[in-house]
Amino acid sequence: MTDYSLLTQQLKSLAEDEPNFIPVLSNASALIYENLEDLNWAGFYLMDKGALLLGPFQGKVACIRIPLGKGVCGTAAGEDRTLLVPNVHEFPGHIACDGASNSEIVVPIHRKDGKVIGVLDIDSPSLNRFSEEDREGLENLVKAIEEVTEFDGISFD
Ligand code: SME
Repeated sequence: MTDYSLLTQQLKSLAEDEPNFIPVLSNASALIYENLEDLNWAGFYLMDKGALLLGPFQGKVACIRIPLGKGVCGTAAGEDRTLLVPNVHEFPGHIACDGASNSEIVVPIHRKDGKVIGVLDIDSPSLNRFSEEDREGLENLVKAIEEVTEFDGISFD
């Protein structure tokens, strides 16, 4: 089982040195990819011109722009809720960036005024990889990201 409280502490201490979203999210994707077992992609999409734009990540090259409401990421951002998908092939409109992905969890990220600024997207080659413990741990990690990260410079419109 992943030690999410340790991951969250590590993320916070990295962000103390530099809160800019590029290094914080880059290091967050590396921390997640190294510390969670059985992943093939971990990273961020950030709001840009009304869609989700690919941000810092670890894994294979991925789709660059995802419309709100499309795929798992666009649905999670549009509905502002975490989506835990045990089998992505059963999710209507799933966007298959990497054919190896079989399950996925997507957690929305908010800026200080509550607006959704993007999502954390994590994919696994295994079916049913993510548990309720993963959901809780990752939602807490995202809360820490929301508290410590400076998102200035991102255009939402
Ligand atoms: N699977 C995602 C697309 C992003 S990639 O997996 C990195 C989705 O359907 O939103």
